[in-house]
Amino acid sequence: MKEDFVQSIQNRLEEEEIRRLIRQALAAREKAYAPYSRYLVGAALLCRDGEIVTGCNIENAAYTPSNCAERTAFFRAVSSGRRDFRAIAVTGGKADSVRLDLSYPCGVCRQVMEEFCDPDRFLVITARSETDYLVCTLAELLPHGFGPSNVL
Ligand code: THU
Repeated sequence: MKEDFVQSIQNRLEEEEIRRLIRQALAAREKAYAPYSRYLVGAALLCRDGEIVTGCNIENAAYTPSNCAERTAFFRAVSSGRRDFRAIAVTGGKADSVRLDLSYPCGVCRQVMEEFCDPDRFLVITARSETDYLVCTLAELLPHGFGPSNVL
């Protein structure tokens, strides 16, 4: 009984944490600069120290310099001294669509995550809203990944 109670509190906290991440990803999506694709993405990265670092996609007239929301969040976090991460929430969809997609990180962003995260523990949350989302591990998105342990 006591264990059930503790378990349910833990689950609720996790749920609340996920919702908080999604809220911040949705807010970050408002900042997206995507005049070419009109596909707006926001990400919120939960760091081990409890901080949440957000990012949006930033496009460019020359196209290739564009950056995804997830990498914006990772690069902001790493450049502020953080290298230990627990989860990322991603919210994406066309600017004019009423319903967001369940959009997953692109291959390049998955590889950037592989550099800093334990693939079996790092969680990727793709969300349409605070209550409509899916959670998976990085290992599920990037099986047999190539990471620092292969080289160092
Ligand atoms: N995009 C992201 O920000 N994250 C992803 O995981 C997929 C794609 C951006 C890149 C580009 O600005 C737009 O979405 C359309 O591809």
